[in-house]
Amino acid sequence: MFRLISTVQVKTLSRCYPVYIGFNLLDFLDVFLSRHGLKGKFALVSHKSLMDIYGDKIISSISRLGLDTIIIDIPEGEESKSFNMLTQIYDVLINNRFDRWSTVTAFGGGVIGDLAGFAAATFMRGINLVQIPSTLLAQVDSSIGGKVAIDYRGKNIIGAFYQPNLVITDLNLLKSLSVKEFSSGLAEVIKYGVVMDPQILDILENYSNPLPDDIVAELITRSCSCKARIVEADERDEKDIRIILNFGHTIGHAIEVASNFKISHGEAVAIGMVYEAKLSVMLGFLDIDVVNRLIGILSKFGLPISVSQLNIERILSSLSYDKKIKHGKIRLILLKSVGNPIVHDDVPIDSIKRVLEM
Ligand SMILES: NC(=O)c1ccc[n+]([C@@H]2O[C@H](COP(=O)([O-])OP(=O)(O)OC[C@H]3O[C@@H](n4cnc5c(N)ncnc54)[C@H](O)[C@@H]3O)[C@@H](O)[C@H]2O)c1
Repeated sequence: MFRLISTVQVKTLSRCYPVYIGFNLLDFLDVFLSRHGLKGKFALVSHKSLMDIYGDKIISSISRLGLDTIIIDIPEGEESKSFNMLTQIYDVLINNRFDRWSTVTAFGGGVIGDLAGFAAATFMRGINLVQIPSTLLAQVDSSIGGKVAIDYRGKNIIGAFYQPNLVITDLNLLKSLSVKEFSSGLAEVIKYGVVMDPQILDILENYSNPLPDDIVAELITRSCSCKARIVEADERDEKDIRIILNFGHTIGHAIEVASNFKISHGEAVAIGMVYEAKLSVMLGFLDIDVVNRLIGILSKFGLPISVSQLNIERILSSLSYDKKIKHGKIRLILLKSVGNPIVHDDVPIDSIKRVLEM
């Protein structure tokens, strides 16, 4: 049997949907799909490596509904968020006579979620979408909130807001995830703790890796609740509310780019959070104890806290290409205290340089 730990409801203007969080949910997909009235044709977009491990479970549970499942195999990596892959998905849907009542299921990390989500958003002006996130990052972040996209001459340039019908988060999937991918997702969990839910930090201070299952479940539930609250308040990222989830991401992204993506997204976010917290201290908003606390938690979970080997000029030059820069000043999320972020519209580049040099 499955063990449902929690259900986080996401109530947006365009759609209300549940995020089911628990163990063994993959074996009982039929229960969740039929609860949401999903019938008709069914396409499963995923990677071969994931289907090799989990494909049998998924196909046998869906087949109990009497549905045929068409598998669409996508190569791993960010390069797959492309027009080429998108048109391959459309071709399979058209060749198999998918219609407006059919369903696309995204089974994978953020790459699959974004690509398959964009296909579902645009095919016949939008068909059913089920997200089954399989990385920690996808479970706490990308599967919720409806941002779907492909890359075109830049990351996420062609995209849409398209909420799924439901999200099925099976915590057993994390068991096959590499330590590096798990840490990458944990950086986002820590971010929710810093900007919204201080209890996440209390929990992380009391445990070390490997985290017990019930603690992972609680951290994921808390993170999904944070994301749901933000998305409900600012679904389309227009009100300076959703932007607080960018804490650590602006400097982090510049670091990712400056390292030629050798530093992973989660590692870059970890370092970006430390620098953005240090900037908050430098600009007089935050107590230094919060920076030390953040450094302690990131270090305990094997996440980096500085960029000693990177060229600071390269980071600054990537920052200056960021779309958030205006008249030599940059828009950053800073902190007043844990759980109390602020949007700062005019952070001088010089201050960022001084922080990177500290
Ligand atoms: N839409 C959003 O709101 C949003 C938010 C954050 C990130 N993103 C996007 O997410 C993408 C990154 O997502 P990601 O970090 O999940 O990377 P990913 O999707 O590339 O997955 C990372 C790797 O983990 C493997 N993997 C996935 N699940 C596994 C499992 N259970 N066991 C073993 N291996 C597994 C994948 O095959 C892949 O090689 C980026 O494209 C980013 O732009 C989107």
